[in-house]
Amino acid sequence: MKGSDEKRFASLVDDLKSKGHIAEMKNYKQHGRVSTYDHCYSVAKLAYGMDKFLHTKSSEKELVRGAMLHDYYLYDWHLHDGPLHGPYHPKAALFNALRDFMDLTDREKNIIASHMWPLAPSRFPKYKEAVIVCIADKIVSIKETLFMRKGMKDDEDKKK
Ligand SMILES: [Fe+2]
Ligand SMILES: [Fe+2]
Repeated sequence: MKGSDEKRFASLVDDLKSKGHIAEMKNYKQHGRVSTYDHCYSVAKLAYGMDKFLHTKSSEKELVRGAMLHDYYLYDWHLHDGPLHGPYHPKAALFNALRDFMDLTDREKNIIASHMWPLAPSRFPKYKEAVIVCIADKIVSIKETLFMRKGMKDDEDKKK
């Protein structure tokens, strides 16, 4: 990403990070040692980079806000004692986001609700911003999961 895009991305995230319970996501682990906050940040950054690279001319603010809120479910899914986390958590994230961000747009709502598509097939991405975040989330999740496995293997090797 070029410098001006980096700055714009940083200012969009800065606008958000002290709002609602965004910072609370730092307390929850998403994949391995990666917090839900860092996961959402990585998804937002990749989504923003994809928009620039592919010239999709997305609504930058909605893309970044939706990506930062896509996993705003605010619980430790490892300890979650309720409906199956995979299909359920976009609903929890949307519920929390609607409660804490009154100005949520239809694009942002759809980004959050549909990010698990096609695993949750009834909520599909209707906007290009939602398609980008849905893809970025899968790429980042695979990367974090592979890295988590590598981290666990490194830990085991250190014990030997
Ligand atoms: Fe998710
Ligand atoms: Fe995610």
